[in-house]
Amino acid sequence: MNWEELFCVETAPMPAVVIIFGATGDLAQRKLFPALRSLHDRQLFNENSRIIACGRRDFTDEGFRQLLGGEPDFLDHISYCRGDNNDDAVYEKLQTLISDFTRQSDLPCNKLFYLALAADDMLNVCSKLAQHGLTAENNGWAHVIFEKPFGYDLDSARELNNALHKYLAEDQIYRIDHYLGKETVQNILMLRFANVIFEPLWRAEYIERVEITAAESLGVELRGGYYDHAGALRDMFQNHMLQLLCLTAMEVPSSFDADAVRNEKTKLLKSIRPFDLKNPDSCIIRGQYTANGDTAGYRQEKNVASDSMTETYVAAKVMIDNWRWRNVPFYLRSGKRLVNKKSEIAVIFKNIPHSIFQGLPPDALGANTLILNIYPTEGIELSLQAKKPGPKLCIGRMTLNFDYSSLGKAPVDDAYERLLLDALLGDPTLFIRSDFIEEAWKLLTPVLEDWQKNPDSLEFYPANSEGPAGAEKLTAPANWRSLV
Ligand code: BG6
Repeated sequence: MNWEELFCVETAPMPAVVIIFGATGDLAQRKLFPALRSLHDRQLFNENSRIIACGRRDFTDEGFRQLLGGEPDFLDHISYCRGDNNDDAVYEKLQTLISDFTRQSDLPCNKLFYLALAADDMLNVCSKLAQHGLTAENNGWAHVIFEKPFGYDLDSARELNNALHKYLAEDQIYRIDHYLGKETVQNILMLRFANVIFEPLWRAEYIERVEITAAESLGVELRGGYYDHAGALRDMFQNHMLQLLCLTAMEVPSSFDADAVRNEKTKLLKSIRPFDLKNPDSCIIRGQYTANGDTAGYRQEKNVASDSMTETYVAAKVMIDNWRWRNVPFYLRSGKRLVNKKSEIAVIFKNIPHSIFQGLPPDALGANTLILNIYPTEGIELSLQAKKPGPKLCIGRMTLNFDYSSLGKAPVDDAYERLLLDALLGDPTLFIRSDFIEEAWKLLTPVLEDWQKNPDSLEFYPANSEGPAGAEKLTAPANWRSLV
């Protein structure tokens, strides 16, 4: 594969103070600090920037830096602020630390807050930040990143949006979805809108169906407490799966501007046909994994109720009511403890209308497929029919394969790194706007309500399998692509 660089946006984040709440937690330790360190090592973190780690545990600055470990030139940027998020003293200390930094450097006071906290604590922290003047934008900007889950259903999401809007303008709110930071996911828009060859075919006339898969082989691990109240629909569908769907199916935006892109995504969501819940075979099904051999079932997992009815798998047939996608099914599935970890978007084209090759009807030739691989590799695969070299007429299938790793280490190669960089640059394109969140809940809340009323609709599937049998009915007579 040859790569010739055509254009590269120069990125130079402004100096800012990054304040991480929940700094000793799992997300901060596993993802956020490594992402900030990597930005620093790639000179994408302004040298005059600072990081304040907020947590309840008792650390000195030095002790916290030791916890992170690594090179001092990154660690020197970090201070630790100990305290309870409900305690005003934390915010007073933050005010002092932030004004000390900005006074020393005589720079504008840009602040990026990252709330790596449980959903219930986020609003509280936000109101405290506002009370203490920390979200004011009088000398520099203030952006706040929120982790999912963003709401529990339509009402709670609306309430949360309304409550946040009391303290923050919408353009200060960065709702994160880490799938949007993945290379292949960002590449969907490049592939579709920077090339002429796909877009004319990207419609009902040429596309038979689209399959979007995010399958995991792990179970809920140590997150049973959270997961048992969430389930796969809230954990994966309301956010990651709908984002993948929207990027794949949306219309061309007028520019690569945050609002232009997000307007198109929301418009697409509004075009999705509500699920016909009276006919579950044709729309959305859920399952829960059970023990298989040495692998525990979901109900045996730590912090999961022994009679839990929470779904660990969801599959849906989504129809989009607009001109482009008339009658084209989009099949979405995501689940835990499946036979393999695999994420992809597969675009399956129609068969040729007529075959000129004797003895080979159009459907025997097979359909072209374009696969956008998200995991385990990130890349693109396009399958074509081609002649086998030799004197006989033999037709076979060949695959053009592009793997991102062949380009070497990407400049920004972790989703959180990319998204933190964007938040520092003030670019919300890859973050979720409030109207998108509400539209997504509008689509899915009736499903949650229906499941609550009809617990028997929960199917069971053995751990390490391809998922529940009901998923097969959705795509019939076609089959899902194999997970292995
Ligand atoms: C998270 C979910 O948002 O995404 C997890 O809360 C899930 O349950 C994870 O495991 C999957 O992310 P990835 O990047 O591993 O596909």
